[in-house]
Amino acid sequence: MAVFARHMRRLGTENAFKLGDDIQRCVEMGMDVIRFNLGAPDFHSPAHLNRVAIRALEAGRAGYCDPAGILPFREAIADHVTRTRRIPVAADQVVVTPGAKPPIGYTLQSYVDEGDEVIYPSPGFPIYESWVRFVGATPRPLHLSPDRDFNFTADELAALITGRTKVIILCSPSNPTGGVLSREELAAIARAIRERGRPDLRIYSDEIYEQILFDGRRHESIASHAGMRERTVIASGHSKGFAMTGWRLGWAVLPTVEEARIFKRININIMSCVPPFLQEAGEAAYTDPRSADEVRRMVAAFEERRDWIVPALNEIPGVRCRVPKGAFYVFPDVSGMCARLGVHTAHLALPERVRRRTTPAGMLQMFLLYRYAVATMDRASFGRIGAGGQDFLRISIANGMEDIRRGVARIVRAADDVGGFHDFVTDQRRAPGGIFA
Ligand SMILES: Cc1ncc(COP(=O)(O)O)c(C=O)c1O
Repeated sequence: MAVFARHMRRLGTENAFKLGDDIQRCVEMGMDVIRFNLGAPDFHSPAHLNRVAIRALEAGRAGYCDPAGILPFREAIADHVTRTRRIPVAADQVVVTPGAKPPIGYTLQSYVDEGDEVIYPSPGFPIYESWVRFVGATPRPLHLSPDRDFNFTADELAALITGRTKVIILCSPSNPTGGVLSREELAAIARAIRERGRPDLRIYSDEIYEQILFDGRRHESIASHAGMRERTVIASGHSKGFAMTGWRLGWAVLPTVEEARIFKRININIMSCVPPFLQEAGEAAYTDPRSADEVRRMVAAFEERRDWIVPALNEIPGVRCRVPKGAFYVFPDVSGMCARLGVHTAHLALPERVRRRTTPAGMLQMFLLYRYAVATMDRASFGRIGAGGQDFLRISIANGMEDIRRGVARIVRAADDVGGFHDFVTDQRRAPGGIFA
């Protein structure tokens, strides 16, 4: 007898949240944990937007509203996308969702049948792989190569497209790599999809980091290329660029009104509507000119932190870090650090059952957290399939400069602590309920 339905075994998770239990344990032991794990900007949501929501709430606009989203907000989103992607978008193609995460599941539920194939970037946002498996689709991870700045070629993508490919997920700027697809790269990807994709193939273009681009780059979308807007779901929202993660404001632009109605119907089935007073603030984010200044200020801060942390990490023996072009993460290769600390050997020595549920980078992640109070994310947290042999950690720079400096100083000390790592693993193997027991 089983309490849970069989398909629940296929539902994955987002370790950045799951790690919260370990962090809490460390905090309860009195540790001052630096949270490099979460992709949540350390800035407050913009004051002019807070005021819009408060006024709307006080004016009583707090009841149910259109499950697709209030019209003025959908119009503002449509204008924003028309302007920034240079494609015509109407308000009735837009559906407002509680954050940019729900449209991932909506897309997989709406378009994919069991046995269909879904291509998604790996490393990539873990919820892609979770939903692909949950709906019973065949996962086709598109491996991003560290040797090529985590980019991929259109040929590599083309080689994965078959007659069963139903959805291709793209994410630029990328979580966790900070990679950004250029207009030329997107043009080549669009060509490959036009040539090899079946007519009903859909692209899910996750553009949640659209505002966070460095070195003067401009955001580019696959939907701007010939033949693509007719098959692309563009998803974005307010969590990252406007520092509004807890507001749960996101949206999707669907290729057709009919498809938007399906997303609206999923909203109706799950949560009826996004609170209307929050949507009013969401609208102001696109229409009030003060928003652009706020975004510029935050992006400049992320860029300054990136320019500090990348060379600082590269000075640590055994760490190699590329320069991200967007988003607010660095994704260093820590294989040398793992080798120096004896992590690979320790991983191999774990009992099979324990070894299967962790990786060398995962062991390093736990050592950094429990012994040095720095919370990071390991490579396997961004897609498990094919993650073996890749020793990377993701560090979020959506943290103040002071915390970034303190966190890096702790990693520097940890990198030399061979004895400390050995003791940590021994303790955690022996202790009942230990991490490696
Ligand atoms: C690539 C990517 N897509 C979607 C999301 C989810 O965004 P939201 O918090 O708006 O649901 C995140 C958040 O980390 C992300 O990194």
